[in-house]
Amino acid sequence: MSTVIVTGCAGFIGSHLCDRLLASGHEVIGLDAMTGNYPRWVKERNLRAAAGHPKFHFMEVDLCAGDLEELARRAAVVFHLAALPGVRSSWGTSFADYLGGNVLATQRLLETVKNLDAIRRPTVVYASSSSVYGDMEGPLAEDAPTSPRSPYGVSKLAAEQLCRLYASEFGIRAVSLRYFTVFGPRQRPDMAVHRFIRAALCSQPVTVYGDGEQTRDFTYVGDVVDANLAAAELGRAGDVFNIGGGNRASVNDLLAIIESVCSVAVQRQVCPAQPGDVRRTYADMEKAAARLAFRPQVGLTEGIERQVADMRRLYGRQS
Ligand code: UGA
Repeated sequence: MSTVIVTGCAGFIGSHLCDRLLASGHEVIGLDAMTGNYPRWVKERNLRAAAGHPKFHFMEVDLCAGDLEELARRAAVVFHLAALPGVRSSWGTSFADYLGGNVLATQRLLETVKNLDAIRRPTVVYASSSSVYGDMEGPLAEDAPTSPRSPYGVSKLAAEQLCRLYASEFGIRAVSLRYFTVFGPRQRPDMAVHRFIRAALCSQPVTVYGDGEQTRDFTYVGDVVDANLAAAELGRAGDVFNIGGGNRASVNDLLAIIESVCSVAVQRQVCPAQPGDVRRTYADMEKAAARLAFRPQVGLTEGIERQVADMRRLYGRQS
């Protein structure tokens, strides 16, 4: 059992990863800036299980400012999930925050690791994104051209390139995982599945961007946790893997499943397609299957049922 760091530990994916690592006996140092991109109480709720665990050590820290050297020296792995997420909100003046939270924070972390004695350097597992591809016909393998459609995608790709660079120049074992629209309990409140379920539970209308026929390769959060553990064990310096759930569905399909699971009809308000939004995502999963033995386990309806159960508790509705 080793000591590991999880950055972004209070977030959606980070908090699930902490729970799993603690359950496996690891000592977990959880770092989070508790950025106000969504309410602090939701992030604290994400951390509730981990916070009570004797092997969990939480530090509120901004990776752009804090000194991580002592912590990094103790860790076998840094799971780097801290980021400012959100595709459609990354235009305009907010890009400065994306540069800091996604690019500079990653560069500072990699520098910290680089400056350690080679024998002390932890593996870095970086949370990249399907948004690095842009609007391409799938299925997309990892060597497909990258062409982000949003400033957010540009920032995630820049940080991924930094991982590649620190791997090739300094031998740092940095592995990038490109996640495809992750869903499940604790999903961020700005994401489609969360918004649609909340609307269904609270009898509110939803906003559908464009014709709703855009598709995503939805990936269950527990599968993403599996991928992180496999990457820490089996990934090599500079590796990049797609992590897709094999659950391709349109926004309209998604809404129909949520209506069925919640047994309600949801009123739709149609808005224009949003800048930065890609038409489709579709992961080629051959490489992750071959190298990480990664096979997603949870289908869309099952995962939505689990998210609905969690959100009934979140919004105080047991019915
Ligand atoms: C998601 C995450 O938000 C990103 O952080 C992540 O990097 C990315 O997946 C990824 O794959 O890497 P996105 O696919 O845009 O981005 O996920 P959602 O915000 O859940 O949106 C999914 C689709 O639903 C989009 O086409 C969006 O336009 C649509 N949508 C979203 C609506 O029609 N209405 C809404 O209210 C929200």
